[in-house]
Amino acid sequence: MMIMTNKQTSASQRFLTGITTTGTPHLGNFVGSIRPSVAASKGASAESFYFLADYHALIKCDEPARIQQSTLEIAASWLAAGLDPERVTFYRQSDIPEIPELTWLLTCVTAKGVLNRAHAYKASVDKNTAAGNDPDADVSAGLFMYPVLMGADILMFKAHHVPVGRDQIQHIEMARDMAQRFNHLYGEHFVLPQALIEESVALLPGLDGRKMSKSYDNTIPLFTPREQLKKLIAGIVTDSRTPGAPKDTEGSALFQIYQAFASAQETATLRKAFAEGIAWGDAKHMLFERIDREVAPMREHYQALIGNPAKIEASLLAGADKARQLATPFMRELRQAVGLRKLAAAPAAAAKSKAAKTSEPVFKQYREADGKFHFKLLDGQGQLLLQSHGFESPKEAGKAIALLQAQGEAALATLQQSLQPVPGVTAEAIAAALHLRTSAAP
Ligand code: TRP
Repeated sequence: MMIMTNKQTSASQRFLTGITTTGTPHLGNFVGSIRPSVAASKGASAESFYFLADYHALIKCDEPARIQQSTLEIAASWLAAGLDPERVTFYRQSDIPEIPELTWLLTCVTAKGVLNRAHAYKASVDKNTAAGNDPDADVSAGLFMYPVLMGADILMFKAHHVPVGRDQIQHIEMARDMAQRFNHLYGEHFVLPQALIEESVALLPGLDGRKMSKSYDNTIPLFTPREQLKKLIAGIVTDSRTPGAPKDTEGSALFQIYQAFASAQETATLRKAFAEGIAWGDAKHMLFERIDREVAPMREHYQALIGNPAKIEASLLAGADKARQLATPFMRELRQAVGLRKLAAAPAAAAKSKAAKTSEPVFKQYREADGKFHFKLLDGQGQLLLQSHGFESPKEAGKAIALLQAQGEAALATLQQSLQPVPGVTAEAIAAALHLRTSAAP
């Protein structure tokens, strides 16, 4: 996991995040996700991918009309909030057929036991168990596989950073494990992603003071009409202090929501007003005016967009085109890597000498989670040929590599204890690669 503020993003780093298409965006989504994402996407060096996770929505929602409506509303909200589809890649998950295809490849390198421990699945199992039901009662295989689909979303586009809420950290860690496992088996294809938690973004309280969330039914829709916004704000819980009595800012949902929209100076003014005993009605009026000032121009844009779904559709399809320019060739590479290949092409081992001509075999050193230092030998195609056990120090690993480089296959016997067999790789293939390396060494 990584903690960053908007300004620290470094060059050529890729950011990617998905928004599940159930429900209507509310102020909490705006403050917690839409606003910081749109701001980040304007940074000169950021390369951003935002997508509507409608395959994920199917896991939670079996109402087709709601999925469609939510997809429209969320797309319109992001665009109205200033997301520029020319600068970022903004697309709909289900427009990328490579995503479910990659999901399968990842499914095959994901341990079932790991998925058993995923929070969302485990919560369902715990609930069922507590109620004396079958542990898997009402659990779809979709819910169980949720983390793998999400892994495909992330790994497909080689995202470095994935801005998410804390509840999603485990999923990013699982995606990282899938990438690691796949790379280990088939060569370096995936980037290992990191969760990005925006510390500076406060959780917005809802009407009842708990976290604003659809599941608590305490939300204020982002683009609700002005009159409705006023009404909803009037319903925010307060204590029973009368006008003139000083009010606490601490624990006040009204104050926290205000703070999420106001400048530091405006916030200081409201804080003073609280101390001086502002009437709740007046404070609510200030909050309403402040939010409406920020939201009104976007609301107008939103209404125009919602009224023209064909335009949004076209924009999403253009985004999918852009995304598939990366996904299609990458999927081709991955299919090749796992052995889903044209039969007319020679198998990897037989094609070795040909492959070697196009690109050099390489040694790669890396450190595993156990703290040990490993290396592997990859052929010019990135195919794994040789894999070491863990060494205590990088120096020891380096020594073994030097020996292989100096002596070629003759060193294999000496190093036998330090090497791990790679299934399906012949001694000839290793010898050929080592020979190529030794003759190429200066
Ligand atoms: N699971 C995420 C959520 O509920 C949505 C999501 C789907 C996502 N795929 C993703 C987020 C990939 C980040 C990256 O918030």
